[in-house]
Amino acid sequence: MAREYQRRRTFAIISHPDAGKTTLTEKLLLYGGAIHMAGSVKSRKSKRAATSDWMALEKQRGISVTSSVLQFEYDGLRWNLLDTPGHNDFSEDTYRTLTAADCAIMILDAAKGVEPQTRKLFHVCRMRGIPIVTFINKLDRPSRDPFELTSQVEDVLGIHSFPITWPIGSGDLFQGVYDRPSKSVMRFTKGDRGNAAKASTEACELDDPKLVEMLGEDAASQLREEIELLDGAGDEWDHERFLAGELTPVFFGSALNSFGVEPFLKAFEGLCPPPGPREAAGGVVVSPADDRFSAFVFKVQANMDPSHRDRIAFVRICSGKFEGGMRVHHYRLGKQIRLNRAEQFFAQERESIQEAYAGDIVGLYDPGIFRIGDTISTGGPMSFDAVPRFSPEHFGRLELRDPLKRKQLQKGIHQLAQEGTVQLFFEPGREKDPICGVVGKLQFEVLTYRVEHEYGAKIAFDRLPYEHARWVEGPQTPEEMLARRIPMVVLDQDGRLVALFRDQWELERSIRDNDEWRFLETAPIRAGEG
Ligand code: G4P
Repeated sequence: MAREYQRRRTFAIISHPDAGKTTLTEKLLLYGGAIHMAGSVKSRKSKRAATSDWMALEKQRGISVTSSVLQFEYDGLRWNLLDTPGHNDFSEDTYRTLTAADCAIMILDAAKGVEPQTRKLFHVCRMRGIPIVTFINKLDRPSRDPFELTSQVEDVLGIHSFPITWPIGSGDLFQGVYDRPSKSVMRFTKGDRGNAAKASTEACELDDPKLVEMLGEDAASQLREEIELLDGAGDEWDHERFLAGELTPVFFGSALNSFGVEPFLKAFEGLCPPPGPREAAGGVVVSPADDRFSAFVFKVQANMDPSHRDRIAFVRICSGKFEGGMRVHHYRLGKQIRLNRAEQFFAQERESIQEAYAGDIVGLYDPGIFRIGDTISTGGPMSFDAVPRFSPEHFGRLELRDPLKRKQLQKGIHQLAQEGTVQLFFEPGREKDPICGVVGKLQFEVLTYRVEHEYGAKIAFDRLPYEHARWVEGPQTPEEMLARRIPMVVLDQDGRLVALFRDQWELERSIRDNDEWRFLETAPIRAGEG
C-alpha cells in the first residue's frame, strides 16, 4: 500500500480564463503519454456538453461549467489532474476542488501577468498552504520582460519566486528555455505535425561555443547576461519553503507549440508532493499510510446523464485502500453504507474501478446520500473539516413565480444547496424567502434553469446589493450585530450568524469597530448539520 500512495500525484491547474489551462492540460497528457495527439481535451469538453441536458446552457455560452478528474500514468507515477472550470463564474467549484489537491500549477499569460481570477485562486491555495508551481505561458506572443513578470508574482501575490527555466527571447524570437538545474540550453522546433505533436529539442551548455550557432549571436549573449544576473542574485532553491507554499518555482514556455512543456513536466515530477497527512476532527492526524480507509466528498455532480438523473459524488481518498463494494461508515448519517458503483476517469474515458489509494479521486454513484464535506471511513467514525464554504460575492432573494410550486422549489433549492451550487441564507423574520449567495453571477442563471428544468418551478432573483459575507464569531444574536451597524445579518444553512456587506469599506469598518469579534472568510461545512 505504501508503494501505491507514494506514487500518487494529485494536482490542479489554476488560471485566469484564456491563460492556456486547457492547452497546457492537453500537452501534459501528450507528454505524459495519455493521449497521442493534442485536441482530445477540447473534444471532451464538447462531448460532455452534448451529452448532458442542463449543460445546454454550458454549450450556449461556450464555457465549461463542471469539473472532473483526469488520470494518467507517467514515469511510474499515477497522476490525478483535477480539472477546474475556467470560467470566473464557477470559481467556487474550483475553490472546493483545490481542497482535494496536493499541489497547484498556476498559469500566467506572459503578456498579462497576474490577473484578478489568478489572485483569488492563489489566495485559496495559500489558505490551504499547498505548494504552487508557476508556468508563464504564451512566450511565443509579445510578452512582458521575464524579470518584471517574476517580480510581479512576488509583489502582487506576496510569494517568493525562483525561476527554474528562463525564456530565450519572446514573441517571434522565442526559441527555447534555459533549464537552470541541468544548466542546459534547450532550443525547440515544432514537430512535423505542428502544434498537436511534441516539439523537437536541441540542447547544449551555456558556455558551449555551439551556443551562438544554435541561437544566434544576440540571443546567446542576452541569455548569458540574464543567467549571470539570475545566478548572481544568489537565491538558493529551498524545497521546504516550496512545500509550505512560501516559494514558487517559475517556468516559462508556450503550451500551444509545446515549447518548454517537457522540462516543465520533468521538473514537476520532482516538485509535486505525494499525499501527506490530513487532520481530522478531534486533532487526529490521518496518515496516507494508515490501514483504515478514509475519504471526503469535495464535489457532487448531478445529472451527468440526463436519462438517469444520476449523481456522482467525487471523493478524495486520504488514507487506506478503496475496494469496490466495501462497507464504510458515513459520518454525517451515522451509519454503514456499501460503496457499489465507483468510477475513475482516464483521460476522456470513464471506467469502473475496483481499487484505489490515498491521493486518488473516485467518482461514487450517489443515490442521494452524499453532500459536499461528508467523510466516509472504515474502522469507525471519522470526520474531516476539509471543504469550507467560501464567501459568496453575489446575493439575490429567491422569488417564486408560481406559488403553487413551493414544494418543488424547496426540494430543488435544498438539493442544489447540498450539491454546493448555491448557499442559502435566512433573514430572521423572512425565512420563507431565502437569500441565495453565489460566487459568480452566471450561477443565478444556472439555478433558474435547473430549478425549472429539473424540478418544474419557475423562479427569479431579486438582486441584493451585497458583495461580501463573513461568518461572525463572538455575538450571540442577530440583534446584537444589527445594533453595531452591521448592514445585514442572516443565518446560514447551519444556523450560524453571517454578516453581509455592500463593499470592502463597510466590511473593513465593521472589522475595525468590532475587534473582539472574529469575521471569517470561510466556514467549515459541519458534518451532521445542514
Ligand atoms: P483556458 O483553458 O485557460 O481558458 O485557455 P485555453 O487553453 O483554451 O487557451 C485560450 C486561447 O489561448 C486559445 O486560443 C489557445 O489556443 C491560446 N493559447 C494557449 N496557449 C497558448 C500559447 O502558448 N501561445 C499562444 N499563442 N496561444 C496560446 P483560442 O483562439 O481562444 O482557441 P483555439 O481556437 O486556438 O482553440
